[in-house]
Amino acid sequence: MEKRRELYRGKAKTVYATDDPGLLVMHFRDDTSAFDGIKVSQLEQKGETNNRINAYIMGKLGAAGVATHFVRLLNERESLVVSLKMIPVECVVRNVCAGSMAKRYGIAEGTRLPEPIFEFFYKSDALHDPLVNDDHIRILGWANARDIAEMKALTLRVNQVLKPLFADAGIELVDYKLEFGHAISDPTGPLLLGDEFTPDGCRLWDLSTEEKLDKDRFRRDLGSVIEKYREVATRIGVPLQ
Ligand code: TMP
Ligand code: ASP
Repeated sequence: MEKRRELYRGKAKTVYATDDPGLLVMHFRDDTSAFDGIKVSQLEQKGETNNRINAYIMGKLGAAGVATHFVRLLNERESLVVSLKMIPVECVVRNVCAGSMAKRYGIAEGTRLPEPIFEFFYKSDALHDPLVNDDHIRILGWANARDIAEMKALTLRVNQVLKPLFADAGIELVDYKLEFGHAISDPTGPLLLGDEFTPDGCRLWDLSTEEKLDKDRFRRDLGSVIEKYREVATRIGVPLQ
């Protein structure tokens, strides 16, 4: 496999083509962004930490039957992934009320939910990722009804795998965001989980102290951001350098 030209530079990752049109290199940078790119900073060791955490979680999800774009770790900061045509929506599952849901409905952050709540957001930094429903997605043509149902089912299935995985390490999976797409080599094939699963895209609280161990440490200027990401990695058994 040969790495070729840069295809896309996102807020925290850069994607490169390879000599195989169906495969991409995903490079995790140290850049950290929040509030849709308004707050940006470089955090030392973030790229390598998130690359390792993502590889570990994607491996666990794959083993549990959730198909993902992850192929293998390439080096400290890079992973080989299947090239996907992404659906421009973000799938969020919440086990505990926090973040935008707490603000939107005036509910205290930390309120336990009797069942997981699923939400779709339209992926647009310019619009600050507005909340949308199935009709918006289907009628505006972002995904068909089958893919909408499948995104929901897969995102909830991920909860069944990851909630206990984190709980075994004394960590509460408060909420998380997933993105899906179809392989460009198989556009009518199954949906694959794309993007990443790292503490950048979820909320993780210590089960006994409720200490935040995720990107809210950066958003809210709590400090020790990467130290806590690395603590999560160690606690769930991710090998770090
Ligand atoms: P929210 O409370 O801001 O709606 O976010 C819910 C979860 O989804 C939280 O863990 C952060 C994650 N998320 C992202 O990583 N990126 C996004 O663009 C959005 C909307 C949420
Ligand atoms: N993930 C989004 C961003 O990078 C939202 C956030 O993290 O606050 O802007």
